[in-house]
Amino acid sequence: MDRVLAIETSCDDTSVAIVERTGWVHAVVSASQDLEHEPYGGIVPEIACRNHSIALIPLIEEALKKANMTWADIPAIAVTNRPGLVGALIVGLITAKSIAQARNIPFIGVNHLEGHLLAPFLRDSEYSPPEDFDYPYVGLAISGGHTSLYHIRGIGDYEVLGKTKDDAAGEAFDKFAKMAGLGFPGGVRVDREAKKGNPAAYEFPRSMIHDDTFDMSFSGLKSSGQRLIEQMGPEEVQKNLPDLCASFQEAIVDVLITKLEKAAKKYKAKRVILTGGVSANSRLRARAEEWAKRKGFKLVIPPLRYCTDNAAMIGYVGVLRLNRGEVSPLDLGPSPQSFPQDFNSQQ
Ligand code: KG4
Ligand code: ZN
Repeated sequence: MDRVLAIETSCDDTSVAIVERTGWVHAVVSASQDLEHEPYGGIVPEIACRNHSIALIPLIEEALKKANMTWADIPAIAVTNRPGLVGALIVGLITAKSIAQARNIPFIGVNHLEGHLLAPFLRDSEYSPPEDFDYPYVGLAISGGHTSLYHIRGIGDYEVLGKTKDDAAGEAFDKFAKMAGLGFPGGVRVDREAKKGNPAAYEFPRSMIHDDTFDMSFSGLKSSGQRLIEQMGPEEVQKNLPDLCASFQEAIVDVLITKLEKAAKKYKAKRVILTGGVSANSRLRARAEEWAKRKGFKLVIPPLRYCTDNAAMIGYVGVLRLNRGEVSPLDLGPSPQSFPQDFNSQQ
């Protein structure tokens, strides 16, 4: 089994890709729903489901066309079935099952987070992983729904070292942006404002930064941001937006880099990766790169198209697992959570 067509609909991005066992991405096409969710200031599950249903089939056709392939070139289907919004997952899952049944080809349900963790292995005409990039490595997966540190030892061998006790880092960015009147999606807007600001202008808490675990917490930071914004009032906030964003962002980046370093040291990892939507953050990227260079770690941050939610990473996991003899039954369902066997310690 050398190739799969992959479908990702776990949250608010609809994505389809055709991926080789080598990690080569023939095509990846995605539809963002940001404009649909923006008026509500966050993701509305019903709207996500409806838009997946509208976008998915045209995206499948587009992926085949872009890869210059027909169904005869597709020997298997991979699809995200966990974790995510159940209604959103169902759209991808029933589509994948229908294709598998109609074409009489195998299909496999994939864990979305495993996709993020293996994204550095993807390759295309503009990106390929460093020659010496291989297991084991420490990975920080940072998105709107998850902020977790992993030790990635091989395919299917992932230990969860720590995770956020409350909000995900992306959620903190999004909520802060909403409170500051920046709208949705927030992370990229905070990033943009922060470029003009002073990261030391305001003092924000860095909860759990120096404790003994790899766990994190961002809800105190969020509350502290909320209090400050309420105290300042809309005009002051507007005037000091760059400093507010830069300081808030710095608190998140400090926590993430500190925990990443702690994990890399403890596990004597030579290689570390950042993955998930928040790894698009320019300050985090710059600080992580500077840190890795100074401390002698090999840092890989996949390009943005493979960091944010995408079907290519799902296809790569799917094709690897199919080649290990795994296939999903046609009664596989969607799950809001990871399966207990997905990670060596409970996610
Ligand atoms: O991985 P992803 O595309 O979807 C999820 O699985 O959640 O991540 C989306 C998250 C959102 O919270 C978004 O605000 C955040 O990534 N994000 C950023 C940036 N770009 C996206 N956060 C900070 N800085 C950015 N430049
Ligand atoms: Zn994700």
